[in-house]
Amino acid sequence: MKRDARGLEVTGAADAEIAAIDHFTEQLLGLGAETDAIMGAASASPDCPMIQAYAACTFVYTQSSAQAARALGLLQRARRRFRELTGRERIFVEAVEAGCRGDFERAITAYESIAQEWPRDVVAAKLAEFHFFQTGESARQLAFMRSVAPANRDHSHLLSMYAFALELCAKRDEAEEAARAAMRINPLTMWAQHCLAHVFAGQSRIAQGIAELQSYAEGWRGFGRYIQSHNWFHLATLYLAQLDFDRAREAFNSRVWGFLPDTAGELTDAVLLLWYLELAGMELDAEWRGIAPHARPYAHDRVFPFINAVAIYALARAGEQAEVDRAAAELERFAGRQSGRAARVWRDVGLPLVRGSAAFARRDYPLAAALLGPILNDAACAGGSDEQRGVFIQSNLVSLIRSQQKSQARRALDQYIGGRAVTPLERLWRDQI
Ligand SMILES: [Fe+2]
Repeated sequence: MKRDARGLEVTGAADAEIAAIDHFTEQLLGLGAETDAIMGAASASPDCPMIQAYAACTFVYTQSSAQAARALGLLQRARRRFRELTGRERIFVEAVEAGCRGDFERAITAYESIAQEWPRDVVAAKLAEFHFFQTGESARQLAFMRSVAPANRDHSHLLSMYAFALELCAKRDEAEEAARAAMRINPLTMWAQHCLAHVFAGQSRIAQGIAELQSYAEGWRGFGRYIQSHNWFHLATLYLAQLDFDRAREAFNSRVWGFLPDTAGELTDAVLLLWYLELAGMELDAEWRGIAPHARPYAHDRVFPFINAVAIYALARAGEQAEVDRAAAELERFAGRQSGRAARVWRDVGLPLVRGSAAFARRDYPLAAALLGPILNDAACAGGSDEQRGVFIQSNLVSLIRSQQKSQARRALDQYIGGRAVTPLERLWRDQI
């Protein structure tokens, strides 16, 4: 049986199929612009189950249940030769299926079992990373990446995933060390540069972060659209920390938004950047009306609550209150039917997160603080990265300031800053209190 470049056996593959799989692996892990080439390979090689499964797994990233359903035909084709598949391939097909159905726990557990036996399966690790983003289980994510790192020391992208898991666990010095090690192997490791952006923000190294990310930015152009928007989103938030509204807005207009506006990744970056601009004190209007049509489908979906909150904030700021009310009522009914972990995610955290975001959007500050404040420590389970969830922390803080709850605001700000240096933006909030 043929093996791919990671040394993993692939059923039903000749040289062309192995080449397609290796190309996909490199594009997915490296955040390249050609991950979609696997769709053409899936049509050309209907009898290679792993190619079908790899094509199917691209739909996991849509963060949309309607789009994820489009993976099912590919997975059916992958299952036609299920009995012939290796153990790894069987688990992988089932994991992708679970991920597309929104059963993240099942998908993660499956990827964990692949990691144990086949730690060089970096595609499985990459998909697990995305589900960890949706479930907010950063400690489990770090354990996963730590377990596969020794078998992949040569692999800059895997190393960058290990670095990012460290960052999400607030081990930022170690994260930086691992990210820089990845960039020594390959300076154009996008995920390592991205990890550094998180580290710079998390350690208030604003001026250094701006200088360094700007020096990388020229190199972002040849990569996938998502990472271009997302890295620019991070750079723009550093501009904002310095109260440089002009450059943050310029980044929004020319680098973050308007390329693939219906994709969840770009939508999230755009909404969060505008939200952060507003938290820093800017008033925006026309931008929201441009975003709202793209946000609407995500407001009604049930993939993970973080994306609902993002979409609903955009709709509320665009003045679509009836749509917001409808989406929130639907969400409440759905949340009420959940049990176990889903009840915690959707009912206990997701619902107040969404309602609190909508309240902040319509300037109902007492309600926004009352809804957001109590759930901030648990908000990770609704999904999103540390820096993305910062909008909820800042919305609670600004709500406390604007509703004159000064002692709570002071406490919230101190807690948010923790041991790091105070940024000019945070100094502004401190002055307002
Ligand atoms: Fe990020």
